[in-house]
Amino acid sequence: MKDVLILGIESSCDETSAAVVKNGRECLSNVIASQIDIHRRYGGVVPEIAGRNHLLAVMPVIDEALEKAGVKKEELDAVAVTYGAGLIGCLLVGVSAAKAFAYALGKPLVKVNHIEGHIAANLIAFPTLEPPFLSLVASGGHTSIIEVRDNCTFVPVSATMDDAIGEAFDKVARILGLPYPGGPEIDRRAKAGNANIKFCPNLHTRGDHAYSFSGLKTAVVNYVHNLKQKGERIPVDDICASFTAEAVGYLVDTFISAAEERGITKAALAGGVAANSYLRAHLADACAKKGVTLFVPPPVLCTDNAAMIAARGYYSFVSGKDIADLSLNAVSNL
Ligand code: KG4
Ligand code: ZN
Repeated sequence: MKDVLILGIESSCDETSAAVVKNGRECLSNVIASQIDIHRRYGGVVPEIAGRNHLLAVMPVIDEALEKAGVKKEELDAVAVTYGAGLIGCLLVGVSAAKAFAYALGKPLVKVNHIEGHIAANLIAFPTLEPPFLSLVASGGHTSIIEVRDNCTFVPVSATMDDAIGEAFDKVARILGLPYPGGPEIDRRAKAGNANIKFCPNLHTRGDHAYSFSGLKTAVVNYVHNLKQKGERIPVDDICASFTAEAVGYLVDTFISAAEERGITKAALAGGVAANSYLRAHLADACAKKGVTLFVPPPVLCTDNAAMIAARGYYSFVSGKDIADLSLNAVSNL
């Protein structure tokens, strides 16, 4: 059978990325231009600045992805692009570039949901992994449990009712004066701390497995404000360790309970927060205890990248689904 080569394009937040993926599983290139250094001075992503920088980066990143893959653009079978969810001005750059590229080459255009893309990172990391499995998507914008029935059928089980887990990590880091993005910084600082503070004793798994992180986030913020008002020392490492333990414990317990309820024995972690060392270890432990086989992609495939978009796009392309035309628009809230 002829190989299928998909060019993936991702620009939903602050990473401009392009990748070439073969047969949905083999990553030939995955070029990521991160804007982290640009947004760090503002303490978070500034959407207008991000959009403008995507515009500067998108064509060089696509050229580099093709060159690294050793693939000529005429050899591509389709172009897959993230069309949502994400920052609208950022998504529009990737969508416009993908439309122009597909039109100029006369190739099909495939629209990809960013969250489903995150899950598909597992298909690249584990080429023999096949659905059904239950996925925990923990990212800056989403915290969801999703049942993957086949490579094109993603059934939402639950989501967060308020903040995403990554948002909570970034907000806690900000209040502690740690640089953006806060997640990796908290991960690092937590290793030196003791998880001896209980911020939110009422955190518990709900019957519908929906998450809520705003209470925990606010409890940490109040704790820090209180110490500041009293002029006391802020135990940054202990706060990082305690917050991480509480957030991750809650994330994992809820996910395991959803898996048990469904009798699921295969699980896959996804999203930027999946790069968190404590989450990776704790979920692996919990899954092992319950006889659930866990798949966790390497950190570079957890945070935003285009290889995951190309992998997800491959399955739509070969089954003739989600083929878009030039009327495709970006959707900030899918
Ligand atoms: O999936 P992602 O790259 O972008 C979205 O689609 O949102 O996730 C970004 C999020 C940020 O909140 C970042 O702080 C968090 O992932 N993150 C981490 C770690 N690495 C990235 N959070 C905790 N620990 C990490 N090591
Ligand atoms: Zn993402």
